[in-house]
Amino acid sequence: MTRLAGKTALITGAARGIGLAFAKAYVAEGAKVAICDIDIARATQAAEDIGEAAIAVEMDVTRQDSIDAGVAETVARLGRIDILINNAAIFTAAPIVEIERADFGRAFDINVAGALFTMQAVARHMIARGGGGKIINMASQAGRRGEPLVAVYCATKAAIISLTQSAGLNLIEHGINVNAIAPGVVDGEHWDGVDAFFAKHENKAPGQKKTEVGAAVPYGRMGTAEDLTGMAVFLASDAADYIVAQCYNVDGGQWMS
Ligand SMILES: NC(=O)c1ccc[n+]([C@@H]2O[C@H](COP(=O)([O-])OP(=O)(O)OC[C@H]3O[C@@H](n4cnc5c(N)ncnc54)[C@H](O)[C@@H]3O)[C@@H](O)[C@H]2O)c1
Repeated sequence: MTRLAGKTALITGAARGIGLAFAKAYVAEGAKVAICDIDIARATQAAEDIGEAAIAVEMDVTRQDSIDAGVAETVARLGRIDILINNAAIFTAAPIVEIERADFGRAFDINVAGALFTMQAVARHMIARGGGGKIINMASQAGRRGEPLVAVYCATKAAIISLTQSAGLNLIEHGINVNAIAPGVVDGEHWDGVDAFFAKHENKAPGQKKTEVGAAVPYGRMGTAEDLTGMAVFLASDAADYIVAQCYNVDGGQWMS
């Protein structure tokens, strides 16, 4: 299909997982993509695997010079940016009495400030060239409510939902739609880390937490990165022009809003 024919997308944290699945789905819909990641070796391999519609760009979303350079490189090599997906993030977890200030700062630096200032850099480009664009922020079910051992990560994702609302209202005057996707539990390397954390803190066997959360999903299993691509393509397409400042749950029925 060609719902994104002629479009170009910058996706942060796209060397693996959900961001990589989005990159592949966008290329399948006719777009060109910049796979931006701090892990440039893996981003380069991913771009090579996808083919000539993909490029790899080194970007650390915690550094403004790196964001600016990555946006400039993407515009130089692909011509323009029509779509941004703020996908890069880290998971962190600890009981409240064990949270460390440095860990809190790092999570907010990547998950929140990284998304905000990448959004700012790309929005400046979109405003300067005219014609609008689409920005998709990766929130989470974790941003909808707290969890006893996941306070900081949950707070970063609640912040993403809030930033999406404010930025959506601010940027629509330029024809830039800002929306978010809130996945539930998506299997992959991210969840390998979550599972390992709960194995340690709740004395579970390896893989047990995944089995439990999968069984709790109304759909009947954990999600895959590919389960999210339909929403990511739709929100980036012209069919979503009238959708502003929303956060969509794609989680097999876990959260209703
Ligand atoms: N996997 C899930 O269950 C789940 C659920 C809800 C929301 N999400 C969100 O979806 C997004 C993607 O999740 P995933 O499971 O693919 O994660 P992942 O951990 O597999 O991938 C994250 C990517 O971000 C990159 N990254 C980390 N720090 C970076 C930085 N400073 N600058 C640039 N890139 C950086 C990593 O190298 C990695 O390639 C994240 O925002 C995550 O919070 C995931």
